[in-house]
Amino acid sequence: MKSIVILISGRGSNLQALLEAQLPCQIAAVISNSADAEGLNIAKARGIATAVVEHRGYADRDSFDAALAKIIDTYHPDIVALAGFMRILTPAFVARYRGKLVNIHPSLLPAYGGLNTHARALRDGVKIHGCTVHFVTPDLDHGPIIIQAAVPVLYHDTEQTLAARVLHEEHRVYPQAIRWLCRDQIELSEDGRVISHNRKQAGFTLISPGLE
Ligand code: GAR
Repeated sequence: MKSIVILISGRGSNLQALLEAQLPCQIAAVISNSADAEGLNIAKARGIATAVVEHRGYADRDSFDAALAKIIDTYHPDIVALAGFMRILTPAFVARYRGKLVNIHPSLLPAYGGLNTHARALRDGVKIHGCTVHFVTPDLDHGPIIIQAAVPVLYHDTEQTLAARVLHEEHRVYPQAIRWLCRDQIELSEDGRVISHNRKQAGFTLISPGLE
């Protein structure tokens, strides 16, 4: 059975979704860059090993990433999943876990990488927004896309209502992506594309706008 290490920085709702999904892999550990991350308690309550590597304790990104990798490697994971992990990772770290390192981002990439994705989508007046699970590359919030879910943006949406609609989808698609990885149904090719060995592809993550 494959094993997975999950990296978090905060609330941990995606972590919770992964834990509840009964994935066909062993969740070896949850690691945070902040001792205050509420998600650590979610992991502890389930008896999952936790660790903290405080980024503030390191002089630069290279030394933080090296310390993080050292702890991750003690678990020999097949998959490293970023679940609201809010640190920019160095190219060396990303290369070390090539094909194993995945992230969830609250926008339909390549639109709205970075922070405040919902506020920026609302400001632009886009009518479709969503979330993306992708393999991590050195380019922040870019990388080969594994699965996306789209949601409508409604006229009366606030940042909070839109975030909640997107988060609901995050909790559906992240377990799906990890399940595919655990079953070797997807992989990252040498030339940086997602190869799917899964013949059927459910279409229910797509939406069409309703018409009057
Ligand atoms: C999620 O919305 C996730 O997509 C986002 O942080 C939130 C973490 O929530 N990640 C990023 O913005 C990464 N660029 P959670 O701790 O409740 O899972």
